[in-house]
Amino acid sequence: MVNAMEKIAVVGGGGGGIGRAVASRLCDDGFLPLLLDQNESAGTETLSVLAAKGRASKLWVADVSNRAQVREAFDNVVSNYGRIDLLVNLAGGTMYAHLIQDFPLSEWLAVIAVNLKGTFLCCQAAIPTMKRQSSGSMINTSSNYGITGGATRTAYAASKAGVIGFSKSLAHELAPHGIRVNTIAPGRTATARVMRNYTPESWAASEREIPMGRAGDPADIAEGVAFLASPASAYMTGQTLHVNGGMVLP
Ligand SMILES: NC(=O)c1ccc[n+]([C@@H]2O[C@H](COP(=O)([O-])OP(=O)(O)OC[C@H]3O[C@@H](n4cnc5c(N)ncnc54)[C@H](O)[C@@H]3O)[C@@H](O)[C@H]2O)c1
Repeated sequence: MVNAMEKIAVVGGGGGGIGRAVASRLCDDGFLPLLLDQNESAGTETLSVLAAKGRASKLWVADVSNRAQVREAFDNVVSNYGRIDLLVNLAGGTMYAHLIQDFPLSEWLAVIAVNLKGTFLCCQAAIPTMKRQSSGSMINTSSNYGITGGATRTAYAASKAGVIGFSKSLAHELAPHGIRVNTIAPGRTATARVMRNYTPESWAASEREIPMGRAGDPADIAEGVAFLASPASAYMTGQTLHVNGGMVLP
């Protein structure tokens, strides 16, 4: 059921740790977050969280690096809801990390495909609708690694640095159409995907390295996204918002 008062947001990676917090936070600002995720059970869990907040959301199970699946999902969103006010691209992750000489090309390209090509495909799919509206906002996701790089992370760091350059270029293209494009760059954030790489001791040690003494909570990142999605940032485009407790100061 379409509620004319609700703004429509598409959240790519909405089943993930940060994605779920973002979708939930956006409800507080009058958005209906619609989810795109390749993981059906994770997406369904987010749907339950949103239902508890009184939002009848929907999940599209799709791989953001697959053009046909992305197009089908966005066509479906537009035919059912008529508009897209906000796109948040959060699907992604490190996936593979190897020293350069050991990095299989297929894995290197797979990291680029999810983080960078997926961002390109989802933005491209949303643009005709936003242009028709002469309004809209896109928020893409970089990372501390997109600024600093990191050993074994050539693919992830390249993809996340690429997201910043991509978003700046798109901001230039779309500003005349009333569409804003910004980037959120989380630092280390406590999601299950990241935490499973640590023991409790190594996690605590990694938190001590952060000037503010703790890793980000997904809710911290969601606040940054909510700001970039809100009229409070109406005069900002092409910017990167670093939400990282001082971990990286670009
Ligand atoms: N958690 C961190 O420390 C951290 C730091 C910096 C940047 N980030 C970025 O924030 C974003 C979210 O991270 P997270 O920690 O919440 O990860 P997560 O693994 O919890 O969530 C990612 C979600 O994206 C989905 N996804 C992955 N590949 C997909 C694909 N090809 N198509 C559709 N869906 C796909 C997954 O199913 C998952 O639900 C990622 O882009 C990540 O690179 C995270």
